[in-house]
Amino acid sequence: MNILQRTAFIKKYIEKTFVIQTQAHAKALLHNRSQRLPNIYVSPMLGKLLSMLVQIQRPQRVLEIGTLGGYSTLWIAKHLKGGYILSVELYKHHQEIASENIMASCLDCHVDVVCANALDYLTQLQEKGATPFDYIFIDGNKREYLDYLEKVLPLTRKGSIIISDNLIPKRGNVGYPQKGDVNAQAIYDFHKAIANHPKLESIIFPTIVGQNGRIDGCGLSIVQ
Ligand SMILES: C[S@@+](CC[C@H](N)C(=O)[O-])C[C@H]1O[C@@H](n2cnc3c(N)ncnc32)[C@H](O)[C@@H]1O
Repeated sequence: MNILQRTAFIKKYIEKTFVIQTQAHAKALLHNRSQRLPNIYVSPMLGKLLSMLVQIQRPQRVLEIGTLGGYSTLWIAKHLKGGYILSVELYKHHQEIASENIMASCLDCHVDVVCANALDYLTQLQEKGATPFDYIFIDGNKREYLDYLEKVLPLTRKGSIIISDNLIPKRGNVGYPQKGDVNAQAIYDFHKAIANHPKLESIIFPTIVGQNGRIDGCGLSIVQ
């Protein structure tokens, strides 16, 4: 077994042993597939972690950037009893599918899926003086992560957590993007920002994604 086969096997093993998807998750995935949404959701392993972080942190207000079909939203909602999720999605088609999936699930929290460019929408929230969010999940356009961070920080409080997915680019030497690889450069700029920001304590933990066992990373930052 080579190293990639081994990491793919570890992922399958962990998911088989620790992750039970609800019927709502299974139905949402089927619906997303039938509506031809791209298969770029969080892994079930990361989904479970998102829901456990809700149990640890007990947020009342959650902000998600990048809804797609609402698969990660359903994981976050699983233990968010009485809480609120605002999920922002750029494409109308994605927002409609996500809203259908959420309506079809019996959730104990309120979820709004808004169709907007998160960069504009976050500016408006800030201008309106929105109540801070306790838990933020960033999973939108990787090139925009640094801009999301700048815009979400004023919408946090001490103790808010920011989770940011897909922090290890697919190609190039780790830490040193190839010249012209703007996606990877944007992600490494984001690393520097969360590692050095005076208001954040951060870490990236490795994750395993896809069928072929690629190592990716998920960021966790706590607002100080
Ligand atoms: C990786 S997918 C999200 C997956 C989803 N969180 C899940 O795990 O089920 C990224 C989503 O972000 C959306 N997106 C990209 N740029 C955005 C922006 N500026 N504002 C809001 N959504 C954006 C894309 O349309 C896409 O649906």
